[in-house]
Amino acid sequence: MNDDILKVLYSREQIQDATEKMGKQITKDFEGKDPLVICILKGAAVFYSDIVREINTYCELDFMDVSSYGNETVSSGDVKIIKDLDTSVEDRNVLIIEDIIDTGRTLKCLVDLFEKRNAKSVKICTLLDKPDRRIEGIVPDYTGFKVPNEFVVGFGLDYMGHYRNLPFIGVLKPEIYADNQE
Ligand code: PRP
Ligand code: MN
Ligand code: MG
Repeated sequence: MNDDILKVLYSREQIQDATEKMGKQITKDFEGKDPLVICILKGAAVFYSDIVREINTYCELDFMDVSSYGNETVSSGDVKIIKDLDTSVEDRNVLIIEDIIDTGRTLKCLVDLFEKRNAKSVKICTLLDKPDRRIEGIVPDYTGFKVPNEFVVGFGLDYMGHYRNLPFIGVLKPEIYADNQE
């Protein structure tokens, strides 16, 4: 699996540093607000388990599994809920944890949904932000790294379901995609 990686973009240590920084800021901002911290499965799972341990104030955790409709070339922008939250967001300060914001469609849907469900506030924390590809006007409140417009894997991010378990963020060798396009 490691042989498939062309280069490492962010090492485990760099990710750890960025996570600690975000956690400190989140701790300050959410002190006394008892936020509901939401993991967007599956991509955010790895980062989530790290960031929640850097939040040093009372909070609750919950999980949601969503997936985008449509194929690779034409994305409808609809987001299907595979697993909804167990907790009500009504009157809660919500903090969404994502691995990456690309077009912004997933988050646009979720922010709209939580606002419709009468959340008190909705904030976004993402490990990676890829602003070049943005379609929806989503701006994260906490960002680990702004990434160039390259296809990245690892630390929760997948290519065809694989590579989520890599402990760093990297770029795949071009032949890996080529093999799958036949
Ligand atoms: C990926 C990623 C984000 C979303 C970002 O999830 O984890 O949730 O896409 O893309 P967007 O900004 O264009 O909406 P994906 O739908 O691949 O599901 P996964 O997390 O289970 O891999
Ligand atoms: Mn995802
Ligand atoms: Mg994915």
